[in-house]
Amino acid sequence: MTHKIELLAAEIANLKASNTEEVEQLRIKYLGRKGIMNDLMEAFRSVAPEEKKVLGQKINALKQGLTQKINELKENVAVEANCGDAIDLTRTPYPIKLGTRHPLTIVKNEIVDIFARLGFTLAEGPEVEDDWHVYSSMNFADDHPARDMQDTFFIEARPDIILRSHTSSVQARVMETQKPPIRVICPGRVYRNEAISARAHCFFHQVEGLYIDTNVSFTDLKQVLLLFAQEMFGAETQIRLRPSYFPFTEPSAEMDISCHLCGGKGCSFCKHTGWVEILGCGMVDPAVLEANGINSKEYTGYAFGMGIERITNLKYQVKDLRMFSENDTRFLDEFKSAN
Ligand code: DAH
Repeated sequence: MTHKIELLAAEIANLKASNTEEVEQLRIKYLGRKGIMNDLMEAFRSVAPEEKKVLGQKINALKQGLTQKINELKENVAVEANCGDAIDLTRTPYPIKLGTRHPLTIVKNEIVDIFARLGFTLAEGPEVEDDWHVYSSMNFADDHPARDMQDTFFIEARPDIILRSHTSSVQARVMETQKPPIRVICPGRVYRNEAISARAHCFFHQVEGLYIDTNVSFTDLKQVLLLFAQEMFGAETQIRLRPSYFPFTEPSAEMDISCHLCGGKGCSFCKHTGWVEILGCGMVDPAVLEANGINSKEYTGYAFGMGIERITNLKYQVKDLRMFSENDTRFLDEFKSAN
């Protein structure tokens, strides 16, 4: 009998099953009412009394081992059956993919931060505006070409309501509600009826600056813009102002910075001039102050406006304006480290 038990023990150790049915068959074969263990118990009854103790222990151990083995097989086939959708809790988790700030947002924040340090506060206005705030209050003549359908988007059935074509409209909004001294920086989206290409888009972004107080001079404007240019493009940056014309400023100027790619020596980026244009500016036209309820005898002011895409292009050399609005994550991911 001892020999039989040993043979069975070896047999049990090698039992295999590939599904629940097979495990059940094994259970019946060994542990069932008419199973092998039962036969063994029957045989045990007729064993000589002096052998019972030792053999009884062996049979018990065999039964324990058998029960354990059957349970193990049961568990294994259950795990294998679920393997397709099992969750492996020991696996290293996937890293969470963080989004990135849009390059235009990065640059906008940088511009606003620089002027905030100079005491400018943030102001915003609506993108759907009326003719008064965009054009009339900004001293545009009734027949100014910018008012043309070619440049401006009109809201159907409301010819006086338009999509603002520049952030200068926020100047008017601020003057309406604030008394001088006024010192605001106004970022926002603007719209123009342009065919979309690498160099033009029907919407883009601007930042407007406005400073109104007693005794504000052109020198103040120049100093603030120099500071801005050096903060934005590096301490060695130089500026130059060229006379220009805008309806809402007098005198008006366009500002260039020394080309930061070639250090002003001349390269293909600055078309070998050593300078690149970055903004328009000037002293607020007294007619604009008066139209917006500010006494032009008491107060003077300066204003400036720049395109955020333009500044971003200068900083990061983005060749195609359309990249900014295509949501291509390969492009956006490049700005991950920018801040
Ligand atoms: N509004 C002008 C544009 O869209 C930019 C500009 C020029 C704004 C001169 C100003 C300024 O405030 O003084 O082209």
